[in-house]
Amino acid sequence: METKVIAFSGSLRKESYTTKLLKAFQKSAPVGITVEIIDISTLPFINEDLEADLPQPVKDLHAKIKSADAVIFATPEYNRSYSPVLKNAIDWGSRPEGNNLWKTKPATIIGCSPYSLGAFGAVNHLRQVVLYVNLYIMQQPEFYLSFIADSMDEQGNITKKETQDFINGHWKAFGEWIEKFNSTKNN
Ligand SMILES: Cc1cc2nc3c(=O)[nH]c(=O)nc-3n(C[C@H](O)[C@H](O)[C@H](O)COP(=O)(O)O)c2cc1C
Repeated sequence: METKVIAFSGSLRKESYTTKLLKAFQKSAPVGITVEIIDISTLPFINEDLEADLPQPVKDLHAKIKSADAVIFATPEYNRSYSPVLKNAIDWGSRPEGNNLWKTKPATIIGCSPYSLGAFGAVNHLRQVVLYVNLYIMQQPEFYLSFIADSMDEQGNITKKETQDFINGHWKAFGEWIEKFNSTKNN
C-alpha cells in the first residue's frame, strides 16, 4: 500500500530555498511513498473566533492531515526560530480543542539556510512544539543544511552528490521510522 506523506514549507517566498529543498525531498522519495506539499499560504491567522465556523482553507488542511500517514516540516530560520506560517499551520491542525489531528503521526523536520548554521535554531524550536502536539518526531538523524545555494542550481536541482546522499540517508531512516508506526497501526 502507498504511504502518504504530507509536507509543509515554512517559507512562502517564490524562490525559497526551503521549498526547493522540500521539492528535492519529494523527488527523492523511496518507492511506495508519495509526498504532497500542502499550500499553507491561504490559511487565516489563528483566531479562536473562527473556530465556530471553520474557514475552508482550515477544513482543507484538516482533511489533508487526516488522510496522511506521516508529515515532513521544512523550515527556514527566522531570528533563531522557525517561521510563523509554519506555527500557524501547526496551530490550526491542533484546533478546535480536543481535535488535535497531528497526534501519533510519524514526522521529521528538515532545515536549511544560505548561511552557516543550517537552521539549527529553527529546527530545535520546532521540535519542542511538535512534541507537544504529540507527533512522533524522528530524533535521529537530524537534518541541517548550511550554505544551501552551493547544493542546488536555480531551479532547485541538487547539484552536489554529498547533499543528495544526505537526503537519501534521511529518507532511508524516515521510511523505517514511518514503517515502525504503520506496522503497529495495522496490528
Ligand atoms: C525575519 C527573518 C529572520 C531571519 N533570521 C535568520 C536567522 O536567525 N538565522 C539565519 O541563518 N538566517 C536568518 N534569516 C535569513 C534566512 O535564512 C534566509 O532569508 C533564507 O533564505 C530564508 O529561507 P527561504 O529561502 O526558504 O525563504 C532571516 C530571514 C528573515 C526574513
